[in-house]
Parts: sequence; structure tokens; C-alpha cells
Amino acid sequence: MRLIVTKISVGLWAAAYIKNTITQFSPSLEHPFVLGLPTGSTVLDMYAILRTFAKERLLNFQQVITFNMDEYVGLPIDHPQSYHSYMRRNLFDHVNLLPEHIFMPDGQASDLVQECTRYENAIMQTGGVDLFVGGIGRNGHIAFNEPGTPFDSRTHVADLTPSTREANARFFQNDLSRVPRQALTVGIGTILGSKELLFIAAGVKKAAAVTHLVTQPPTPSWPLTALKLHPRATLLADLDACVLLSGNAKTQLDEAMQADPHAEQWILNLEDPA
Ligand code: GLP
Repeated sequence: MRLIVTKISVGLWAAAYIKNTITQFSPSLEHPFVLGLPTGSTVLDMYAILRTFAKERLLNFQQVITFNMDEYVGLPIDHPQSYHSYMRRNLFDHVNLLPEHIFMPDGQASDLVQECTRYENAIMQTGGVDLFVGGIGRNGHIAFNEPGTPFDSRTHVADLTPSTREANARFFQNDLSRVPRQALTVGIGTILGSKELLFIAAGVKKAAAVTHLVTQPPTPSWPLTALKLHPRATLLADLDACVLLSGNAKTQLDEAMQADPHAEQWILNLEDPA
């Protein structure tokens, strides 16, 4: 996999990458582009720029199908912190996605296990996700796949760890008791089944997860290390998220920065463990 360290905003980088990837794919109604989407604060800028691209008619969502990664269990979809609300606010209400092309897991389904099967089947029926974009949790979770989740997991009901609930309490008036205890999430196997992956880490709070990805072989203890098993995976990180890099990766980054100090980004190949 590759690690791209960027000096420009990760949101701008990711939005431009999504736009270019969809444009090059040249989607049609018979052959739509299938885009996997995340939530979280890291990707707010990315959505703002995607909205601008759509407004300026630089990006057309009409032949795009979206699948979100996850949703809290039990939150009404119109709750301001549900991922349904987040997505409407940040993207769906502003672009020309067709309503029948928008897929999100239903965290209020009466049969959650059946809902997970329905969601997984819906992804398969489209032929699979072309590009799955994701953020990462401080403990290395991807979507809501917490540490210990098997790499072959599919869409499932996940128990959120205390650290994830604490990290997300800021969205619930800092009141831990309001943070849902469970979520529906695509599995790590679902994510790895996508044709391409772009995960994003910004800020020092993600530095420990990034250094584990870089220095460790794939291990369920750090779910993001599964990205190393995918042939077309990128971790996009800002400089703050790289402050704890060590070993070969640190040497590679220092050398790349010295060789081209004015570059907007530096690309590291993580095939060799540090
Ligand atoms: C939640 C989401 C994850 C996301 C993470 C990071 O836990 N389920 O998919 O990656 O938040 O959030 P933030 O970008 O706010 O740090």
C-alpha cells in the first residue's frame, strides 16, 4: 500500500481524487460508479469541496451509487447525530445523487442481523464498491470495526468500545450516556472487497494509529492494518498524523522531504515493513 503525506488539506486532496477517479471511470446509468462513503470530522472539508464541485458542475453524481460505511443503532434517522442526518447535511441535500442510488444501513431496523444481510447483498448486487473512502478511529478502527474484528467480517452489528464512545461523546453534548453502544457497520472483509481504498488520517490524535499501520504487519488489534492486504490501498495523512512515524517509513519520509522540500505531497511505499 502507499502512504501519501500531504501538506495541503486532506479534504481538498481527497475530494480532487474522488472527482478525478469518477471522471476517468466515465460512469453511465448502465455502468454507474459505486462510491463508499464515511462520516466523521476528518472528512467534513472533503464534503464541502465535493459540494462545490457539484455546484460548479465539475462533478456529476447522477451516475454514482453511494454506500455509507455505518450507522448508529437506535438513533432515529432525523436525530442530528445520526449518520443519515450527517450525510444529508454534508452531501446528499446538495448534489444530484438519485435517491434510489443512496444506500445507508438502517440502525432502526427491527431485525438488525437481517438488515446487515440486506446491506451486504445490496453492495454485491451493484458489482461491488469501486472506491471506498474512509476515516480512521484513534484506536485504529475503520468504519465501526473495532480492534479484534476479524479481517473477513462482513456487514454486522458492532459493540462500540469505551474509547470510541468517549471519542464520539463530543457530538453528544459530551454526555457519554447519550452515545449509542452499538452500530451497524460494513465489515473489514466488505471493505477489502472494494476495488480501491482511500483512507484518511488527520491530526496528532491519529498519529498512534498511523504508526501502527506503518510499523506492524496486519493484525486485527489495529483494524486499519488490514489496508496492507489490499492491492490498491492508500492512506492519506497530514504531517500531524505522521509525527510518531519511526523506522523505514520515517527515513523514507525524511529523505523524500529533503529531496523535494517544496512538494505538496510525498509518496511512501509501505510494501516493506519498517
Ligand atoms: C467514527 C466513524 C468512523 C470514522 C471515525 C473518525 O467512529 N464510524 O468511520 O472514521 O469516526 O472520526 P473523526 O474523523 O471525527 O476523527
